[in-house]
Amino acid sequence: MTQSYFVKTFGCQMNVYDSERIGELLEAEGYAAAPDAARADVVVLNTCHIREKAAEKVYSDIGRLKASRRPNGIKPVVVVAGCVAQAEGAEIVRRAPAVDVVVGPNAYHRLPAMLRGAGAVDTDMPVESKFMQLPPRRAVIPASAFLTVQEGCDKFCTFCVVPYTRGAELSRPADALVAEAEALVAGGASELTLLGQNVNAYRDVTTTFAELLARIAGVRGLVRLRYTTSHPRDMNDELIAAHRDLPQLMPYLHLPVQSGSDRLLKAMNRAHTRSSYLNILDRLRAARADIALSGDFIVGFPGETDADFADTLSIVREVGYAQAYSFKYSPRPGTPAATMGEQVPEDVKDARLAELQATIGETALAFNRASVGKRCDVLLERPGRRPGQLIGKSPWLQSVFVVSPSAKIGDIVTVDLIDAQPNSLEGAPVILTRAAA
Ligand code: 5AD
Ligand code: SF4
Repeated sequence: MTQSYFVKTFGCQMNVYDSERIGELLEAEGYAAAPDAARADVVVLNTCHIREKAAEKVYSDIGRLKASRRPNGIKPVVVVAGCVAQAEGAEIVRRAPAVDVVVGPNAYHRLPAMLRGAGAVDTDMPVESKFMQLPPRRAVIPASAFLTVQEGCDKFCTFCVVPYTRGAELSRPADALVAEAEALVAGGASELTLLGQNVNAYRDVTTTFAELLARIAGVRGLVRLRYTTSHPRDMNDELIAAHRDLPQLMPYLHLPVQSGSDRLLKAMNRAHTRSSYLNILDRLRAARADIALSGDFIVGFPGETDADFADTLSIVREVGYAQAYSFKYSPRPGTPAATMGEQVPEDVKDARLAELQATIGETALAFNRASVGKRCDVLLERPGRRPGQLIGKSPWLQSVFVVSPSAKIGDIVTVDLIDAQPNSLEGAPVILTRAAA
């Protein structure tokens, strides 16, 4: 009988991409997609280790799965993949004996063999890339698709586990990426988001990241191109110029700064200052005046004072982020900041997080309000809650609600932006520019 599988994804978009590839891999082996974890014979938890809360979630899921039975009375096979698998390895099986397989983010091409019984734990970081051994991309692809071009991080921010869980920076060959981009567009994608832990550190022999963007922008049928996540240190002139020169490259950039205080940026080993970061934004705006900015922030990093935090609030206002993600500092085992003195009390972190999120909410609403009156294209990605309503993304990555009886998911509609909320806008359709096949 056909075995079924379900992949549950935690964490970042790189995990979303890996989950897609794990699904393709299992389907190539004859597994069928199950509608949810409760009905799957094999459940893959593709995990995140970035903060303690994310890492702990997986154990509550394992607990729930352990107690569950399929209709035929059989227990599901539980696979832990992703960054918790990499960081904790065999420890996971010791702590949660219900787990059958542990496979790291660089070894999941071996998952089918492991399911056949060839080893329960594999957290190797093989030199030969898993990408060479994965089956081709699916025939049907969403309108907006991800493409991992780079993995790993050599930056060693003092708070972050990524350099340990995902290993050193590694870029995929440019020719393979252009071929994968062509396959994704042929399968139905109009928009591609190039992914990497440090995507703008991409380099393949002589191909720079800006050159890769230009090559992928040239793929026939590709309408929109984005990339995430970037480090300020790798935001060079050539890449900034790409924002001026490539019409497919959308006017949006996620460029984390983490803190507005130079003292903390130094303690975080960020290798940029507040002013060098702001200078990059000035140059980006000179290249592409309407670029929308997004960032990541940490509150309560060890030693953070009220004055440091005030610097963070002021940089949020100064930049006027269109959106931003903010987190309470979470000490991660093995990272330098975890053992620094002056850990900030939890209640102080809570208060700062609330204040920061309120400030980000204000700048995001101001950004959305300033968009009202603009005409733009929206790529429709999913149904809305109300009948006839569809939700898509503007060029500035805002969620836009559109009511258009003739439009369907995958279409690009031109709209007038007529109303703004903190997290979304309403668009009145003007013309349907392209219908999906
Ligand atoms: N605690 C809190 N937030 C963290 N991030 C990374 N490590 C930690 C940590 N230990 C945040 C950073 C990063 C984002 C992906 O997660 O802001 O940019
Ligand atoms: Fe972590 Fe810093 Fe690397 Fe980003 S740049 S993945 S925050 S170490």
